[in-house]
Amino acid sequence: MPNKIFSGIRPSGKLHLGNYLGAIKNWIELQDKPDTERAVFAVVDYHGITTPFDPKTYHQQIMDTALDFLAAGIDPKKSLLIRQSKVPEHTELAWIFNTITPVSWLDRLPTYKEKLGETGGRYNHMGILDYPILMAADILLYKSNLVPVGEDQLPHIDLTNEVAKKFNSMFGQTFEPVKPYLAMGTRIMSLQDPIKKMSKTGDEGIALSDNPDEIREKIKKAVTDSGKEIVFDPDKKPAISNLMTVYHLLSQNSVKEIEKKYGGKNYSEFKNDLAEVVVNFLKPFQEKRKELESDLTYVEDVLMESEEKARIIASSTLTEVKQKMGL
Ligand code: TYM
Repeated sequence: MPNKIFSGIRPSGKLHLGNYLGAIKNWIELQDKPDTERAVFAVVDYHGITTPFDPKTYHQQIMDTALDFLAAGIDPKKSLLIRQSKVPEHTELAWIFNTITPVSWLDRLPTYKEKLGETGGRYNHMGILDYPILMAADILLYKSNLVPVGEDQLPHIDLTNEVAKKFNSMFGQTFEPVKPYLAMGTRIMSLQDPIKKMSKTGDEGIALSDNPDEIREKIKKAVTDSGKEIVFDPDKKPAISNLMTVYHLLSQNSVKEIEKKYGGKNYSEFKNDLAEVVVNFLKPFQEKRKELESDLTYVEDVLMESEEKARIIASSTLTEVKQKMGL
């Protein structure tokens, strides 16, 4: 079966290496595959407003995320690059799914509990609870069957399949099963605490926009494990294994080759080299991004053209769904 791909990222801060390695790197690989029939990548700006945001800067953040996608290698000739809020069918389908999804499928999700925990319960609004339904709508609106994401999103893919099954059983076969696309790197950990996943804050993560000195400094300060051997063992040596994963994914070296190369060497030699691997990897991305920043009309055109094409697919699915429901 040909691949129909959908994925998205919230425009809620600078993108970091976790976003790149867990998601965008795989988007780029998948858009090039001959068995990919279509790929839609979204700046999920409606998801982004479920946590605090500044209306004065939000538009800029959305554009920044779109720029990051293009600079990283999303090719508008092969993929559609959209802003979720510009394709209103996303929220329309989400409403329909709301009416068939038991609340108990949502309030048991670990991501819901995490979000509540993070905000001390202050943001216990419908949007946080309902967030995965909008995500299911994002995916199923394009009849997608493959979703490249980081590991943290797996419960949402499971929920998407449950919602699809329920819809099919109530109104007739409409949606195919959806599979996550996971590769190594779908869980890049914080540089300061290898038990926590890399996030957008401080020294925990490397932003795609960090300059060489910031990158060198952050990697130098990254925590390491006890002992001094550079071996890949995520259970016993989570910190160094995480750094080795980043090294492997951004270079041509396999994990085995890295172990061999650094056998007998110390952490600081490895970290110095890793910093250069990251700096060199991000250089072309950052150059491309600068170029795009001076041509925002091009970025706006890409988005509008993609959104127009996305609406054709989206409205066809929605028409089918409504017909099946007698709407
Ligand atoms: P978001 O914006 O939190 O993250 C975007 C993508 O980056 C991945 N990711 C990571 N991967 C590896 N290591 C990390 N430390 C790391 N941190 C983040 C995430 O797994 C994700 O793939 N709900 C989604 C956005 C979304 C979506 C969708 C995704 C909305 N609709 C439909 C796929 C399909 C989210 O909040 O991702």
